[in-house]
Amino acid sequence: MMALLGLLVLSLFHVSLVGSHTSSQHASSPAQPAGEQSSEGSDNLSFPWSRLRLPRYIIPLHYDLHLHPNLTSLSFTGSVQIQIDVQNNTNWVVLHSKGLKISKATIMDQNLTHLSDKVLPVLHHPSHEQIGIFSPRVLSSGRKYFLCIEFGAELAEGFYGFYKSTYRTSTGETRTLASTHFEPTSARMAFPCFDEPSFKANFTVRIKRNPEFISLSNMPIVKTVEVGDGLLEDQFDVSVKMSTYLVAFVVCDFKSVTATTSSGVQVSIYASPEKWQQTSYALEVAVKMLDFYDEYFNIHYPLPKQDLIAIPDFESGAMENWGLTTYRETSLLYDPLTSSISDKLWITMVIGHELAHQWFGNLVTMEWWNDIWLNEGFARYMEYISVEATYPDLKVEEYLLHTCFAAVGSDSLNSSRPISSPAENPTQITQMFDTASYDKGACVLHMLRHFLTDDVFQRGIVRYLRKYSYKNALNQDLWDSLANTCSEEDFISGKHCYSSSQASKNAYLFAGEHLDLTAMMNTWILQKGVPLVTVTRKGPHLLLRQDRFLRTVLPSDPLWSSLQKGFLWHIPLTYKTDASNTIHRHLMTTQTDSIHIGEEVSWVKVNTDMTGYYVVHYEDGGWDKMTKLLRQNHTALSYKDRTQLIHNAFQLVTAGHLSLDKGLDLIGYLQLETHNVPLLQGLGSLQAFYHMIEKRNEIDVTRKLRMHILRFFRVVIDQQTWSDGGSVSERRLRSELLSLACHLDDPPCLERARQSFKHWLQSKGTLNLPTDVATTVFSVGAQEDRGWASLLHTYNISSSAAQKSKILFALTCSRDTNKLHRLLELGLEGKVIRSQDLSSLIFMVARNPQGHRLAWNFVKKNWDTLVQRFQLGSSCIRSIIIGTTGHFSSPEELAEVQLFFESIKEQASQLRATQVALDNVQKNVRWFQRNLETLRNWLNQQM
Ligand code: BES
Ligand code: ZN
Repeated sequence: MMALLGLLVLSLFHVSLVGSHTSSQHASSPAQPAGEQSSEGSDNLSFPWSRLRLPRYIIPLHYDLHLHPNLTSLSFTGSVQIQIDVQNNTNWVVLHSKGLKISKATIMDQNLTHLSDKVLPVLHHPSHEQIGIFSPRVLSSGRKYFLCIEFGAELAEGFYGFYKSTYRTSTGETRTLASTHFEPTSARMAFPCFDEPSFKANFTVRIKRNPEFISLSNMPIVKTVEVGDGLLEDQFDVSVKMSTYLVAFVVCDFKSVTATTSSGVQVSIYASPEKWQQTSYALEVAVKMLDFYDEYFNIHYPLPKQDLIAIPDFESGAMENWGLTTYRETSLLYDPLTSSISDKLWITMVIGHELAHQWFGNLVTMEWWNDIWLNEGFARYMEYISVEATYPDLKVEEYLLHTCFAAVGSDSLNSSRPISSPAENPTQITQMFDTASYDKGACVLHMLRHFLTDDVFQRGIVRYLRKYSYKNALNQDLWDSLANTCSEEDFISGKHCYSSSQASKNAYLFAGEHLDLTAMMNTWILQKGVPLVTVTRKGPHLLLRQDRFLRTVLPSDPLWSSLQKGFLWHIPLTYKTDASNTIHRHLMTTQTDSIHIGEEVSWVKVNTDMTGYYVVHYEDGGWDKMTKLLRQNHTALSYKDRTQLIHNAFQLVTAGHLSLDKGLDLIGYLQLETHNVPLLQGLGSLQAFYHMIEKRNEIDVTRKLRMHILRFFRVVIDQQTWSDGGSVSERRLRSELLSLACHLDDPPCLERARQSFKHWLQSKGTLNLPTDVATTVFSVGAQEDRGWASLLHTYNISSSAAQKSKILFALTCSRDTNKLHRLLELGLEGKVIRSQDLSSLIFMVARNPQGHRLAWNFVKKNWDTLVQRFQLGSSCIRSIIIGTTGHFSSPEELAEVQLFFESIKEQASQLRATQVALDNVQKNVRWFQRNLETLRNWLNQQM
């Protein structure tokens, strides 16, 4: 009976499989038989699978991958033997392949006997990036087989799959290398595979190469053999169980430095031969970080080695391939002569990020891309935890607020999305790597850690990592692990530890007995937007109300109520008052609420140190109280609280809840401020207005705002030295302040910068400027023809990526539109200025008032080329769209942007960035309509 039922289910399943191939799918993307094989019998076959995701009944267990890249012909051939576990009777194996020429496919049983004496028909479904291999003999449920495929392709031109990169030696010779970048869906460009994160398997890689090259992959080499034709073949050790997107290999002629961690892991930094002197800082960081994570996660890094390699052509910042992390040169190479303190901090954070992924992402992987935040949000947050622990002098905690501010910035536009959102096709999946996954993810984790306490948070994530090692996880798995922080001993001995655990003790502080962590976290992960908590004093009570915070729509707007509907968060509120030193807590789960604070309290500051992901509005004169407090006694609040007040105030101005002059009055206290974080926050707000206004024909307001900023910060500007001395915070403040002062044409600043630039010119570019002010000096120097030309020359020959990025920025500051145009053309050409730098180049030109129209027109004109080069959903396209429209603020410009998006409708409709761009411009338009006159009047009063 059971057997019969089983058979029935199976046959039904098979029918439904074939039947699920709908005709509309077929019409839009006809399945094509492979070109180069005896496709005997394949004419009558139609592609057996209609979905984007692969069937679950064939599980890859092990890949034996052979590759032979030819760096002269710029192509590669390969073969892969995949051991599969078949869980339903079927004649078909469906897997991913993109742009590969499949020359042969066969299937063998466990005893390595071929199932058919002919090569098997291979059908292609290009729009789904899938192939289907037909076995005339049924593959039986419960059996294992070997699927063997031979294939080849050109090395890719862009930045995904198995792609080529080049670099130039100091003698002018061009050298080629081949490297990979697979995440999220490009492993299928390098070899046929089951390219989804939950198909974890072991990989054995072999690579053929010429003796003058080396090859690297996830694991160490176990042996190298001669294979004839003067070629060598490296065989790498079998990997741990992992997802396809983490596989990597590189063939190059790089040099390395190596050290060992306390637990014996070999760490090496690889760079092109002339750059290996720039590798020592990264080596130190990587060793320290691996030691730190080993201890923090209480799980040893499982591989014998970790290589970090700087790839000359690299689109994103870095990639966490297991055991072989790849980086942009500026993300890995620290050059003591030209790298600034910000460069150093960046490198440290990037390494901290990629190495965190070796646990969060590699060891435990999200089930599907909709929850990529489980990788990226954690890795971003771990940057802060790990750098704070390993390099306390870098004061990384000063930056965490900015991560949260970035998240609020996009989450307060209507175009935002929940952290966890559906994503099926590659364009949708690629767009998941955005502020919501990274910054909001990290910020919400910060809130959760603060809520549960450091210790409970750490024990919870260790539990999660242990339980799901070499597996995949869902959000729920994380919440369950965090809520139940039993030690392993407790667990084994069967003790009921939940109610006695630290977690619930802390939870009591907030929520009493019935804390439902899942319900709470779902409001942050499954719901888009950021809450606005409005507080009012009423006698001894603090009245609270939560709404969705929106910067583009006012409460008076007819749209408002529909945009608010159904939004509710479980907010772990914190607040401080003048009446005590403690931080008070209250879990707010309803739309309105009230807290007894007592009559004697004079001020209340909500969201202490911004440990919560929400914006606070102090109604009924509440902001005046804050302004007064800051003026009288600003150190009554922490620097984080002061920074957050400044941030919230200007957010509320944009949203129309607070008038601009109140915001400007609030930052009046900054003349007393000595901490760089609130100072930079205030400066940044004014700078943002300035950048917008200088692009409008508002000469008078622009001039007055310039004068105001310079006068307001005169004392701190004059205190700055043009050197690299001092603490990290001092160096960062100096860098920002002097850059702004010169941008605002401050005469003493310009004079000093010109003088330095003259010396640099006289030295023919050999003089090393103080690294933190080099960008400013170059930007001033770039205003003269001769200076600009010398900078471009130095850019061309410099062997320091850190130096080149400073120079490129300076070049984009020219006021000469011909020069800006030339830069854009050079970027498009991709020789002097690499394609990897084109999107930031466009962004920087658009920042320049003389360049913003130019950049926009350039993007419109070259749209197709740009999309082809970077892929539609990529962060490059996103930053190009948002960067070139972000400064628009007139209704005419809005219409122009709309018109362009209309003209690329099919692409635009697939992109979130177009929505974000429109929201942004709309927000700017309203800002001007509402605030320009206020600003004009306010400035006049200051004169
Ligand atoms: N996993 C990503 C790399 C990545 C980015 C893959 C986008 C696919 C699409 C990596 O860990 C990462 O987050 N890189 C960042 C830099 C990092 C320091 C935040 C990047 O490339 O922007
Ligand atoms: Zn990452």
